[in-house]
Amino acid sequence: MKIKKILVVGGGQMGSGITHVMAQAGIQVSMRDITKEYAQKGLDSITKNLSKQLQKGKITEEVMKATLANINIGGQFVKEDCDVDIAIEAINENMELKVKTFKQLDEWCPERTILASNTSSLPITAIGAVTKRPEKVVGMHFFSPVFLMRLVEVVKGLASDEETVATIMELAKFIGKSPMEIKDYPGFVGNRIMVPMMNEAIQTLYEGVADAETIDGVILAGFNHPIGPLRLCDAIGNDTILAVMEVLYEGFGDPKYRPSPLLRKMVEAGWLGKKSGRGFYNDYK
Ligand SMILES: NC(=O)c1ccc[n+]([C@@H]2O[C@H](COP(=O)([O-])OP(=O)(O)OC[C@H]3O[C@@H](n4cnc5c(N)ncnc54)[C@H](O)[C@@H]3O)[C@@H](O)[C@H]2O)c1
Repeated sequence: MKIKKILVVGGGQMGSGITHVMAQAGIQVSMRDITKEYAQKGLDSITKNLSKQLQKGKITEEVMKATLANINIGGQFVKEDCDVDIAIEAINENMELKVKTFKQLDEWCPERTILASNTSSLPITAIGAVTKRPEKVVGMHFFSPVFLMRLVEVVKGLASDEETVATIMELAKFIGKSPMEIKDYPGFVGNRIMVPMMNEAIQTLYEGVADAETIDGVILAGFNHPIGPLRLCDAIGNDTILAVMEVLYEGFGDPKYRPSPLLRKMVEAGWLGKKSGRGFYNDYK
């Protein structure tokens, strides 16, 4: 594998997960956040997840030690952090913030560096267009929790070149994931299919066809999904579900993607699901 050093920008839920799987595969990772304290929180969650893997006998103590030894953390990335083969951005889902980060990475990273984004909904083509290397900008969309989920959507922007895409596909396989190459259209593939299904479950509830437990029960018993769509909305966060629906609705200009009025109402009420303590279910402590 030609990838030896990676910079991960953002050490939250996804950035720390990406750092974990890369470091476990033997790659040197610098994880940076706004402050070192935030990055430390990310490192704490990596240590916790590694301990879980150790307890379950999935990894040895040596692997845990070697993984942690491959990680260094810090606050805002500086030019010295940018001499890497790939920089992966995993900061908040906000175009303005991402544009600022990509412009800075483009200025500081050497010519060889691939710039990847873990965005779940923003257009890779538009992110690439703010850099002087759009051919080396690509989506590397991991799923949560990163150390458990196999899928990585490798998103090819209009200007991304074949070599860049091939390198990211190879890297994803090297770290034990199942990459799928996808073109840069709203929702990519996973969210385009799954999120409207969840929105439809909300609409079914809104129309009073059945209650939340029954709707989830139908999908669990009839389709063998591991979790019902409304419980899944609560787990992901109703604000995120609404944001993805808005991206699909605006991106395709097709009314079939309109967010359910009940979804909007839930977000207005602050009933975001598990993270706010109340969502379609009210049993989160
Ligand atoms: N949560 C998910 O299930 C999921 C799944 C796939 C993709 N994503 C995408 O991954 C990205 C990150 O999501 P998350 O869930 O990890 O969010 P998060 O809020 O857990 O983490 C974001 C981190 O980025 C940091 N940050 C913000 N601005 C920064 C900057 N300028 N420099 C360095 N660090 C900065 C924040 O302090 C925070 O720690 C988003 O684009 C999101 O859409 C999320």
